Amino acid sequence: PPVSVFGVPTDIGASRRGVSMGPEALRVAGLVEAIADRGIDVRDLGDVHGPRNPTSPPVDGYRHLEEVVAWNRAVFEMSTRELQAGRMPILLGGDHCLGIGSIAAVAAHCRATGKKLRVLWLDAHADFNTREITPSGNIHGMPVACLCGLGPEPLTTMAGHVPAITPDQVRQIGIRSVDPGEKKLVQEHGLDIYDMRYIDEVGMRRAMEEALEGVDADTHLHVSFDVDMLDPSIAPGTGTRVPGGINYREAQLIMEMVADTGCMGSLDLVEVNPALDKRNATARLAVDLVESLFGKSTLMRD
Ligand code: ARG
Ligand code: MN
Ligand code: MN
Ligand code: MN
Repeated sequence: PPVSVFGVPTDIGASRRGVSMGPEALRVAGLVEAIADRGIDVRDLGDVHGPRNPTSPPVDGYRHLEEVVAWNRAVFEMSTRELQAGRMPILLGGDHCLGIGSIAAVAAHCRATGKKLRVLWLDAHADFNTREITPSGNIHGMPVACLCGLGPEPLTTMAGHVPAITPDQVRQIGIRSVDPGEKKLVQEHGLDIYDMRYIDEVGMRRAMEEALEGVDADTHLHVSFDVDMLDPSIAPGTGTRVPGGINYREAQLIMEMVADTGCMGSLDLVEVNPALDKRNATARLAVDLVESLFGKSTLMRD
């Protein structure tokens, strides 16, 4: 389908500032041109707007809850509008709390159109914290829990039905940092996590085959790509770096296998922080990987 790119310039769900500059970093790295070069009809809609970052401490376990809700409402509206117009929304974050609005929109759309939904969560983190167990109060550590119905009312109800998604619709790849309380919670909820140990043992090809099992022509595949999934040696421009991440070749294989399904219906590109980067390397790598997501390969298909 045709693609609509929009920026969400905020770091409201993080405690470290700077991912608010992510959308421009991705544009400067040539994201829109790279998609157009694949022969795809792509539009850059510019940025959505929201409140400034007050940089305040957590209240009742949440940092900046009111502002996070406002930004996610804006994302929900933009994503919904593009989905209804038959276009593929690509969200340029911004921090990962924005996945709440984006995936809530996709969940509502799938419900309305009778499509199955699969969420591929590419991340170093499970992002399954709640106010009771969060070590930081940062809502970018909570989006998967919120979408699964665990969280503050304005965030869990965004799709119009609660929960927006169920854990069996989610597959997480690249995970290597899960907080102690969060570990218990993901186990209780049966989240399907392909962590680094599993990937090391069986290899990325098999991990991805399993993660994509059951994805068919009736499936809307949402890819939520937190660039901290990548090893910090190749992607230093992000705020919550964890060593031992996905290497370049593994990342390419993930994207190529997603492209092969032909089912990707929406995408988040989040947590790019130019203030921590080295000559925009992380945004440039993200663009390289997006080319593969849209079918660019060396030999077989061009
Ligand atoms: N688990 C940590 C927390 O909840 C880190 C979360 C990082 N999330 C992210 N989207 N980068 O504070
Ligand atoms: Mn994340
Ligand atoms: Mn992360
Ligand atoms: Mn490339």
